[in-house]
Formats: sequence, C-alpha cells, structure tokens
Amino acid sequence: MKGVVTSISGATVTIDLRGLRLYDRVYIGHARLSGEVVHLEKDHTTVQVFEDTHGLSIGEPAEGTQAPLTVTLGPGLLGGVFDGLQRPLPALQQKSGAFIRNCGTIPSLDLQRSWPFTPSKEVGAVLAVGDIYGVVTEGHIEHPLFARCAGKIEHIHSGPIRLNEPLVTLQGGEQLFGFQDWSVRRPRPGGEKCPAEVPLITGQRCIDFLFPMVKGAVAIIPGGFGTGKTVLEQSIAKFTDIDVVVYVGCGERGNEMAGLLSEFDELRDAAGQPLLERTIIIANTSNMPVAARESSIFTAVTMAEYYRDMGYDVLFLADSLSRWAEALREISAALEEIPGEDGYPTYLSSRLAGFIERSGVVKTATGKLGSLSMILAVSPPGADFSEPVTQACLRAAGAFYQLDTSLAHSRHFPAINWNHSYSLFSKECTAYFSREIDVQWPTLHHRCRDILQQESALREVVEVVGMEGLQDRDQLLMSAAERIRRDFLCQNSFTADAFSSPQQTAQRIAAIIADYDQAVQRLEEGELLTDILQGGNNAPG
Ligand SMILES: Nc1ncnc2c1ncn2[C@@H]1O[C@H](COP(=O)(O)OP(=O)(O)OP(=O)(O)O)[C@@H](O)[C@H]1O
Ligand SMILES: [Mg+2]
Repeated sequence: MKGVVTSISGATVTIDLRGLRLYDRVYIGHARLSGEVVHLEKDHTTVQVFEDTHGLSIGEPAEGTQAPLTVTLGPGLLGGVFDGLQRPLPALQQKSGAFIRNCGTIPSLDLQRSWPFTPSKEVGAVLAVGDIYGVVTEGHIEHPLFARCAGKIEHIHSGPIRLNEPLVTLQGGEQLFGFQDWSVRRPRPGGEKCPAEVPLITGQRCIDFLFPMVKGAVAIIPGGFGTGKTVLEQSIAKFTDIDVVVYVGCGERGNEMAGLLSEFDELRDAAGQPLLERTIIIANTSNMPVAARESSIFTAVTMAEYYRDMGYDVLFLADSLSRWAEALREISAALEEIPGEDGYPTYLSSRLAGFIERSGVVKTATGKLGSLSMILAVSPPGADFSEPVTQACLRAAGAFYQLDTSLAHSRHFPAINWNHSYSLFSKECTAYFSREIDVQWPTLHHRCRDILQQESALREVVEVVGMEGLQDRDQLLMSAAERIRRDFLCQNSFTADAFSSPQQTAQRIAAIIADYDQAVQRLEEGELLTDILQGGNNAPG
C-alpha cells in the first residue's frame, strides 16, 4: 500500500493513504522511517514517526504494512540491549556511530547465530497449537519452543541450528522456526491467572521486612529528584531472586545506562552466571525520539510476557514512568487532542493500566507457574505525589515505596519513608517468612513497626520539650528506633551490605529488638538511664 507524505509537524506526519487501521505500521520517506498510525480520517491518515524526521519533505513516499508494530520473540533476547523499537543497539552503533541516525531496518535477533536445539517430538508425531516440540539452551535458561500451527511432523531437526533455518517441517510444507513476531500492544495469552503468593526477595531489608512484595505484583517507587530511584531499581535488578529481568531505561540519562551495562557485564548472580545473561535491557535515553519511548514500554512488556509464558519468574523494571507519560503528553499535544489534568491526555490512566495489567501469575500450557512482576519508578515534579502520573500508578499498584527527599538529604538510603509507604502483601509474606525463615518473623515485624510508629508520635513531643524532657522509657524507645533506622533500614548499595538475605534480615532486627528489651528490663530493675545508654548497644548514634 503506497502513498505520499502530505504534511509534517515534528514527528507527526500525515499521509494520503486510506484503508489503514489504527496502530498499523507505516514506513515514511526515502529513508523508510518507522511509524505507527495514530489517527484516521476519511481522506488522510496521521502517523507518529518513531525516528528523527529531520530533512523529511512533502511528497516523499509512504508505505503502509497493514500489520501492527511487532516484536520478534526467540532465543537471543537475553543479554540483548535494544532501543524502543527492538533494534539491537550494538548493531545500530556499528552502522551509525554513538549517536543514532536513521539507518533502515536491522533484524532484532541475530538470525545467523547458532543455537543448540534438542527436539522433544519425533517424526510422525502430531503437533497441536501450543505443544512444545523442542528446547533451545539460551545461556542457563531452557527455552522451550511452542508450535504455532498444528500438523504431523515430516522432519524435525536436532543439534545446532540458526534461527533462519526451519526446525520442523509439517506435512503439507508448513515450517516452524525458532522465532515469532508478536504485536506489542496485544497481551500474550499466558494462561489461567493464579493468585500471587510467593514473596519476591529483593535483598533490600526495608522492602523485604516492612513492605514485602510478591511475585506477580506491581510496586511503584515515586521519588523526587536525586532520591535514589535509579540506584534502588538497579540494586533490585542485581539481587532479586528471579529468572529473567527486563530493564527499561525510559527517558533517563545516557551515562546511567552506560554505567548499568558495564556493571552488569562484570557482575555475577548466585549461580556464577553473568547478570547480563538473564537480563534484557531496553534503552530509550532522554535524547532518543519520544514516540519510540512511548512504545518501548510495550515492547519490553511483551518480551517479559514471552519468558513468563515459559514458566519463568520475570521482573520488569522501568525507570521512569514519568518520562514515559511525558512522551505520551508530547504525542497527544502534537495530535491536538483535548488535554486532561496537567496537560496529560485523558487516557493516561487507561493506557497505563493497559500494560500494568499485563503483570501477574499465570499457569502456563505445561502446568508450570510463570510470573511477571513490575517495579516502576515515578519521578513526580517537585516531589508532589498528588500529580496525575503518581496517582494513576497508585491505583494499579499493590506496593508503594515512597522515597523521601529529606531522608535522601540526610544520606539515609534507600530513602523509603516507612510512615507513608505500604504493601498489600504483608499478610501473605509474613506467613511465608514465618514458615520458611524464622517463626519469630511476624512478632519482629509487629515490634519493629510499633517502635517506628511510637517514635514518630514522640518526635512531635521532642520538638517541644527536647529529648531530656521525655520519660526514661521513651528515651530508650527513641534510641532503639534510631538504631533500627541507622543499622537496619539504611543499606548502602555500594558496599557488601547491598544485599541482605531474609535470614540475615531476621537476625539483624532480632538482635536490635533483643537489646531494646534488655535495656527496658534493666531500667525496670532500677539501673540509671545514662548507664544503660552509655553501656549498651542502645546508645544513640
Ligand atoms: N542505596 C543507596 N546507597 C548509597 N547511595 C545511594 C543509594 N541510593 C542513592 N544513593 C546516592 O544518591 C544519588 C542519587 O541517586 P539516583 O541517581 O538513584 O537518584 P534518582 O532518584 O534516580 O535521581 P533522578 O531523579 O535524577 O533520576 C546516587 O548517586 C548515590 O550517591
Ligand atoms: Mg534516576
């Protein structure tokens, strides 16, 4: 389907093609810039171009594909670094240098790379749609391949094979390859949704102990400028007990992405494998085109679903959703749509829910459980948590880790505010940790929260009467709370303390609470407060 460009306004281009559908992919101009149909009228079509439109002029050709924007799914995604359109960045760099220019289509997956394939069906077997016919070993992950059409196997390959060679030939000539294309805006079928019950262990004491999260849930990390969102997300990506991590750097600084890449290259997980081997990185830094930023989230979530459907635990991390929403706002303004609150389009919440709702635990075709968890950073301007993006995310999230500017200024990291954050999964997780880690977990959890709550109430009194004006017992409580904050909730991501196992977490809080109980007992036995505070571990820091 061919036409011509009739008007251009930044990345929004109108073409004279008719008969296209919403979200069909279109190629614009002699440079074949990739775009997507975003608005249809009787006699013209509006296209959002994902690439830089510099130099594009009226009358250049336009080609409609009558197919949506797709992502290529198959072995080779793990360890990959892609842009928002799933173009591999190393290949792009080879073609266009460090600053990406328009350089035509590049295959998303390396079709020439050879993969070890072990068939699980024989010649003559009858395949139904969704049956597994073999497995490719991708790093330390077994990558099952599912049949996309039914039929009797006439030939099946065994051993190393390239992605562009057929693995199976069915009677009638139909061939099955190791990769498939999937529309990014259409959720993958997954399977029956199941309840999310297993804790996601992040290694961050504040999260695992106070505000735990489960596999398959959604958490948001809103925080003002410089409060530690990126460091927290990257620590979670490094240490969480998960099979696959999909990290989307959405509109963030390029040097932070570069730092992440070099660090992941060197780091190894518990099994001794390089972290990059189980990670997919989608980089759409602040200087890359905004329309591709909007679609990058959907590209990434589709890849995450692909591994979830194999029965793996997948963690989707986005930094930051505010930049994604800004892209949405920019596109909406270019389309002259009626703006909603703060200029964001009125469909902000529904578009957000469109991908957040793709999280969850599913029972896959093989009966295994696969999960897709999401931890999303939000950077509200001026740390105003009542702004539309934070509020829209809040409605969909089950855990909320609010980063506090004053904590970050006093170098308390992670700067999670324990009074304003919450998790809806505390009950399930506490029961799990009490069963699997320490029977004392629920008691410790309750005591810790109680001390922190009493401390915040006493703080107001201290502001009026000073520490000395408090009763002895309250002074002990204040010093125990101080120790919880300093030795338990603070966790420097750049030291060996960056990861704390649930056992270590339980031991650490148990020791602090035991010291506090002992101090209270000594006070009751008549010892002087000054002696207790000076001698014991409860001395204020
Ligand atoms: N867990 C941590 N341990 C030690 N230092 C930290 C930690 N978290 C944050 N920091 C410090 O705070 C600085 C800012 O953190 P970070 O870049 O993650 O903030 P941000 O919220 O992502 O900022 P921006 O809004 O600019 O994206 C870091 O460079 C680091 O020095
Ligand atoms: Mg950041």
